[in-house]
This record gives sequence, structure tokens and C-alpha cells, in this order.
Amino acid sequence: PRSKRLAGRHALVTAGPTREPLDPVRYISNHSSGKQGYAIAAALAAEGARVTLVSGPVSLRAPEGVDLVKVETARDMLKACEDALPADIFVSVAAVADWRPVKAADKKLKLKGEGKSPAIELTENPDILRTLSHKKKKRPALVIGFAAETHDLERHAQEKLARKGCDWIVANDVSGDVMGGLENEIALITKDGIDRWPRMAKEEVSARLAQKVSEALGRDRDG
Ligand code: C5P
Repeated sequence: PRSKRLAGRHALVTAGPTREPLDPVRYISNHSSGKQGYAIAAALAAEGARVTLVSGPVSLRAPEGVDLVKVETARDMLKACEDALPADIFVSVAAVADWRPVKAADKKLKLKGEGKSPAIELTENPDILRTLSHKKKKRPALVIGFAAETHDLERHAQEKLARKGCDWIVANDVSGDVMGGLENEIALITKDGIDRWPRMAKEEVSARLAQKVSEALGRDRDG
């Protein structure tokens, strides 16, 4: 068996969607299943890392040996991530809602009568990946973002690498049946270039990514 090359390392992983309340019974969210993020958390734990998994609402069980922190909103997710620092590795897999309603009504919104619908004003959520990438003191040594794109995958991913300040981007094409599905087809984008992987199970993507992480941090440790 392979040695546990991430022993002594702390990995922070986000997964799933966030949920942004409109009122006590309604929210804005997305279709993220959490599968890829949970699989990555499991794979990093299998390599010996201590793993904190900060997860939005999903119907998955915590992988064995992983500390699960459940959150609802993007702001909760950012707070939970900051509380979990320091970490050696941050993998930002969550499909964080880009916007939230400016105000969550404290009572259920009511129909107002014919032709009148409530206007929902939105405001931008904090960017968790960007925030952790730009930490002065507690920036994780290796920061990995995800880029779900439907077109111009690699160009957008390259831009994202720069804009978010992360070290690697895992780009995946979500124009097909990837979201919620069992398989994923990704390209790993680093400063050194692009590595396209064939389509494979999300567990397999995770195992390979965990290996790459081990290699990268192993080099740091030895060198
Ligand atoms: O900008 P975009 O949403 O495409 O970027 C995706 C990457 O940024 C993912 O790694 C996602 O987890 C992260 N992200 C974040 N906080 C946000 C939006 C995206 O951490 N508010």
C-alpha cells in the first residue's frame, strides 16, 4: 500500500451548494450534489491528511475520518472556513451562490393580489476562494479552485486562476450531465500549463487529485 504522504497535513475542503434565504420557508440555491467535494475530502483523508469538510446542505454522509461542518449560507461557509484555519491545503469545490437576497423577510412573503409580485433585490456574496487565497498570514500553501464552465473552458479557467489568486484550477465542463452525475471530465490548470484528464468517476478524479497534492507538498517538504 502507498504511504500516507499527507500525514500531519490539514486539508480544508468546501462542498455542496449554499442556500440563501428569502424568507423563513424559501431560498435561492443550485443543483450541486456535493459528490465531487465529498469524494475529494475522502481521498485526502485516505492520503493521511486531517480533513475539515465545510458543506452546504446535501444528502450525503460524512466520509470516514473527516470532520464535517455543516452550513447554509455563503457567509456561514466563509466564517466556518476562517475558523478552520490554519490549513496546508484548501480545495474550494462548493458551488457558492453568487448572490443572496439583500434582506431575508422574517415572515413568509405573501401574495399581494393580482399582478403584484415581490421584487427581490440581490447582493453579491463574499468570494470564499478569493478571500482565502489572499490571506496575508494564514494562506494555505496550496489553494485549489474549481471552474464549472459551459463554454471556452480553458480560457475562463486561466482567467480564474489569476483573478482568484489560487495555485491550481480544476476546470470541468458542466454543459453535459456532470452536475449531480457520477463522472467528471476535468482539466487541471496550473502555472505550468494544462493537463487534460479523460472522463472518469468522481472518486477516481479525487484519488488522482489527492496524489497530485501529495506530490506537490512532498516536494515542498523535501526541498
Ligand atoms: O467565479 P466562479 O463561481 O466561477 O468560481 C468558482 C470557484 O470559486 C470555485 O472553486 C468555488 O468554490 C469558488 N467560489 C467561492 N465563493 C464564491 C464563488 C465561488 O469560493 N462566492
